[in-house]
Amino acid sequence: MKVKYQGKEINIKKIGILTGGGDCAGHNAVIVGLLRRISQANQTLPAGEKMELVGLLEGWKALTRDPEKELNKIIKPLDLIDIEESFSVAGTILRSSRTNIFSKANLEAKMPETAMANIKKLGLDCLVVLGGDDTLGAAGKLGQQYSFPMFGAPKTMDNDVFGTEMTYGFESSVEESVHFIENCRTTAESHNRCFVIEVMGRHAGWVALWAGIAGGAEVTLLPEEVLDMETVIKQVEKSIAKKQHCIVVVSEGARLFDTRYPDAINQKHQKMLETVIADPKYAMVKARHEMPKKKDSFGNEQLGGIGEYVHSILEKHTKGFEYRYQNCGHAIRGGVAHVMDRILGLRYGDAIFGFMLEGKFGVYPGMESDQIVSRNLLEVRGGRFVPQDHQLFKMRNAVDYY
Ligand code: F6P
Repeated sequence: MKVKYQGKEINIKKIGILTGGGDCAGHNAVIVGLLRRISQANQTLPAGEKMELVGLLEGWKALTRDPEKELNKIIKPLDLIDIEESFSVAGTILRSSRTNIFSKANLEAKMPETAMANIKKLGLDCLVVLGGDDTLGAAGKLGQQYSFPMFGAPKTMDNDVFGTEMTYGFESSVEESVHFIENCRTTAESHNRCFVIEVMGRHAGWVALWAGIAGGAEVTLLPEEVLDMETVIKQVEKSIAKKQHCIVVVSEGARLFDTRYPDAINQKHQKMLETVIADPKYAMVKARHEMPKKKDSFGNEQLGGIGEYVHSILEKHTKGFEYRYQNCGHAIRGGVAHVMDRILGLRYGDAIFGFMLEGKFGVYPGMESDQIVSRNLLEVRGGRFVPQDHQLFKMRNAVDYY
């Protein structure tokens, strides 16, 4: 298809698409949404302008592999009839990785250059990159460095990408978390217990916030708040007194210690934790506490485990009732793509084709008041946190209302 790119006419025939970073619901919907438009356009395009969409496997890793040697590990041909129904499931039919072609080691190994050379070897005229801010940022840089036509689409269950009111993947994770919370509640009620449930979301509390409120959690702990375990203990005790059970949802990014906290809170938490880890019953908590922190290839700290601290502190510092700890883990990222993510993904795929027709390259679609907007890939960034003056922030603890 002939389109304008940087003022010149180019013929885009072969489009590559990849999915990077943590998987989530809606990736497949974007692929299907774009492929539908390509397939529709092909019905009327002249023979020399027909397009194909080619899947690149395992995110940016595909472009670090030499097509002359490992083509079967790089390419997945995409046929609309074969893949159309995949939009209803989570995950990615293209598989994913957290490969960062701009990491220090990869820059030293001249990986961006290799990736562009491989794009040329594969005969791609345009690349569509589906991912969070890290993956999209890499697309922006590579596109700019080599003046290559790029598009992106903002995914992530964390919902923390600037430039869009919602990323695809978020809503399905919330639905799955609510299901998880509700399942825990029936057993919590039956046994007069308090369940501490951890959910992913990185340093943004959106998933915990929505899931906590929709799941009726008595207490929801977010990365955006100053966590005070003394208050949490009181909230749990109140809930147990009134209802004989309690659900505490903890975002994985919530913190016991923080430089932003008043010293008194950090010191209080330190004492509480020391009492826990001195008790052999909590040997696992001690072991986790002493483990070195890991980072992924983009330098993001691998989170997870705060729920275990909260659980053990509550158990150690209250009396008379039982606690259980559950971590939803990756289960809330997988399974079904819920309706919102199917629609959002299909809309983003459709929008990318629209941008291409308009000759608007180097962009990703975002959502603003239910309208598609285009955002510059070079300006993408993460860290869209829950503002403390957000209505939902104030509504997050059901226990505050009785
Ligand atoms: O960014 C998405 C996310 O699911 C985060 O919520 C979580 O911290 C992280 O990915 C988990 O990463 P991995 O799948 O590599 O364990």
